[in-house]
Amino acid sequence: MTWQVLLISGSLRAVSTNTAALRTAEQLASRDVVVSLYDGLARLPHFNPDDDTDPLPPEVADLRAAIHGASALMFSTPEYAGALPGSFKNLLDWTIGDDQPGSIYDKPVAWVNTSPRGARGAYDELRTVLEYAHAFIVEEACIQIPISTAMVGADGLVLDRTVRDRLAQAVRALVRPAGGPVA
Ligand code: FNR
Repeated sequence: MTWQVLLISGSLRAVSTNTAALRTAEQLASRDVVVSLYDGLARLPHFNPDDDTDPLPPEVADLRAAIHGASALMFSTPEYAGALPGSFKNLLDWTIGDDQPGSIYDKPVAWVNTSPRGARGAYDELRTVLEYAHAFIVEEACIQIPISTAMVGADGLVLDRTVRDRLAQAVRALVRPAGGPVA
């Protein structure tokens, strides 16, 4: 079985350290794990239960299709005002409304916390949402590894060897528990 890991960043910034971490994880993934970075956050409409009907807004349908196609999800998000960014919480709200097979419910998930300050509020909230969704939080794949802008190269990838190794390990840990390949 080939594992498909979907990476979702909670930052819209072009030079986001969270997106850089996930992009680096994508680059480092082993050949037997297909890793892709979701890029539709900015295009999602505001969550409204009235719009969670067939046909879905196309951007929401795309998000849900990407999640359905993934065997596991990896998140990385900044903290704003002690909490999750509104745009990222909006994405999560759209995932909660999906009651179809293959949704975030019961899916293995993990996160990369790149904040030098801990971002405790944001990650506590992320855990709350994921637990609400009955996602399977793979604790050993959840890492805290501070990444500053200076640690990201012109190619948008993290330069630091230790950080790169830990990002690759996190993806391996995410796909391992349910019998995925160990690279
Ligand atoms: C922040 N930042 C921040 N950091 C933190 O640790 N706790 C916080 O509550 C906040 N609040 C906050 C509010 C606003 C309006 C801004 C602009 C920034 C800092 C922010 O999380 C930090 O810059 C992240 O590194 C941004 O992540 P990306 O965009 O580089 O991925």
